[in-house]
Amino acid sequence: MKKFMIIAVSYFSLLCLSVSFAQTDEYHPLLSVKEIMNGLITPATTTIWGAYQLETDAQWQEVRNAALAVIAAGNLLQFGGAGEGEAATAVKAGWKTYNQQMIEAAKLVILAADNKDEEALSVAGNDALYPPCESCHQQYQAR
Ligand code: HEC
Repeated sequence: MKKFMIIAVSYFSLLCLSVSFAQTDEYHPLLSVKEIMNGLITPATTTIWGAYQLETDAQWQEVRNAALAVIAAGNLLQFGGAGEGEAATAVKAGWKTYNQQMIEAAKLVILAADNKDEEALSVAGNDALYPPCESCHQQYQAR
């Protein structure tokens, strides 16, 4: 009986421990939307939109990595940002749609980079990647 108690107690403390771990694992945004725009989106899109007459593998790799950064930013934007009210905005249908469009556009950039296809890169950059920036800003950027 005593042995059973000890086992039961140690199971219980293990359970408590895993609950407190689960709590510290919760997602907390560290960056505001503005910081995500300036720190991730702007440098990445500068690389993508500025890509022209690419020659080396390294240049294409740079474009591909920039597209990965856009996807990472989009992944963060799914939860909004650390700024006030930004988590609430992120559940809005428009926000989700434009963010998803930006992520899909970045995937087209990756495809173009994998095929080293500058025509496809330019179409992906101008026709797919740019419009969701504009739409989201029109609706959600405070003026
Ligand atoms: C899902 C919505 C959303 C998408 C998509 C989006 N943005 Fe933004 N962006 C915002 C919001 C909201 C702000 C305003 C943030 C603030 O001022 O707090 C902003 C602000 C900015 C700013 C101004 C930052 C500043 O210092 O004021 C830049 C630059 C920017 N975005 C670039 C882009 C580019 C380029 C894209 C497309 C590749 C893009 N954004 C896509 C929501 C979005």
